Order: sequence, then structure tokens, then C-alpha cells
Amino acid sequence: MVEKLKVGTLISGGGTNLQAIIDACNQGRIDAEIVFTGSDVDGVKGLDRAKKAGIDTFVVDYARIIADCREIQDIDSLLPKDFDLDVILEKQRLVDVEKNREKALSFIKSRVIAERRLLDHIESYDMDLLVLAGFMRVLTPYFIDRINAGALEHRIMNIHPALLPAFPGIDGYGDTFRYGCKIGGCTVHFVDYGEDTGPIIGQKAFEIGDDDTLEDVKEKGLQKEWELYPACIQKFAQSR
Ligand code: GRF
Repeated sequence: MVEKLKVGTLISGGGTNLQAIIDACNQGRIDAEIVFTGSDVDGVKGLDRAKKAGIDTFVVDYARIIADCREIQDIDSLLPKDFDLDVILEKQRLVDVEKNREKALSFIKSRVIAERRLLDHIESYDMDLLVLAGFMRVLTPYFIDRINAGALEHRIMNIHPALLPAFPGIDGYGDTFRYGCKIGGCTVHFVDYGEDTGPIIGQKAFEIGDDDTLEDVKEKGLQKEWELYPACIQKFAQSR
């Protein structure tokens, strides 16, 4: 029997991709099992989906942490001991530090403080792959380096609602639709130090008709996502 790939998942919302992965695992369509589901928002439907499937869950309340960071005088006192600002600044491609250094630093530091809490949960599990299933937060090199096995060994996957490298950012389907594209799609890629820039693992496309609304585009896109994500996880499982 093949040893199952141990997959950790992070979500922020409804969790339909999570559900597609749960179903693919349960039906034996992929050689994987989900070992936890973490969320940056409490009370989301995706957490209920995980609990219903008997998966461990946890929440790291990003909004609360970011608000606390804004209020505290000495944000550095909250940073993890192994945080090295120079290393992070050299690697990160998320914010323009030259443009507004103070704003960029507080962005990075608050995210690292939240990421340390995520890692405290994640490190208690035996995990081969971390899957971002609608997790709406960027990840800094602090987090990425502590998950990836080595500099070139990617262990974090993300799904993006557009055919990358077109339309990175938070509203892939919206941007595709407003641009007037006749083809839309979704992309599964590894996470690197930029936003939606890592190596592409798989893509699926669909046609956008002249009468399609944004809602139609989102619906067509999600249907493709639910096929694509399990397939990419299986590709990773088979490449081990
Ligand atoms: C998906 O469209 C995904 O591409 C994007 O966020 C959405 C999450 O949907 N990153 P769900 O929570 O999996 O239903």
C-alpha cells in the first residue's frame, strides 16, 4: 500500500476547495490524508466542513493580531526570537520597502507575529505538504522558510482564480471578467517569496460567453478548481 501524503490545509472562508480535497481523499481518488485545517478567521464554514470530516482544526485570528500590533508601542517585543529583519527584507517581494519603510516594516512584522502562531500549531503535526485552500493572507519568507524542506524544495501550494501570470492579486475572476477575457481559468502553483509568482503545477481553463456574468465566471472557475486542486496534490504525492 502506498503511504499517504500528509496534507495540512489553511483556509479563510467557505472551503469548497477544502471539501473537494476531503472528498478526493475519502473516495481514494488521491493518495493523501488531511492532518489539520487552520483558519485565519473564526466561525467560517470551511472549519465546519473540516470538523464534520473528523479533521483537527485551529484558528489564528489575524485581524486581532494585526489590530494588537497597531496598538502596541514596541511591536518588536512580540517578534519571535529567531526573526532576522535583514534576511526577510533581502528575500521578500511582497511590499515596496523603499516607498514607505515604516508601513512596510509594520506590515511584515505583524504578519510574522501571526505566522509564528500558525507555525506553533503546524509544527505539532507530521506534514508533507501545506495546501492553501482559499487562505487569503500572504506569507512572508519567515514562514515559507520554516515550512519548505530546503531552498529549492517547495512544500506550500496555492490555488489562484486566474490563469497566472495574468491577474495576480485578490480578485482573479473579477479582473478576468472586467478585462473582457473570453477565456478564464485557475492555477495551482507553489508559493515563493512573491505574490502569486511561484512555479506553476497545473492550470485549467474555461470559456467565457458574451452573456456570462461575473457570477457565471466564478461558478465556472470554482468547478475547475475542484478538479484541479486534487489532481495537483496527487501529482505531488506521486513525485515523492
Ligand atoms: C477560490 O476561488 C480560490 O481560488 C481563491 O479563493 C477562493 C476560495 O474558495 N484563492 P473556497 O473557500 O475554496 O470555496
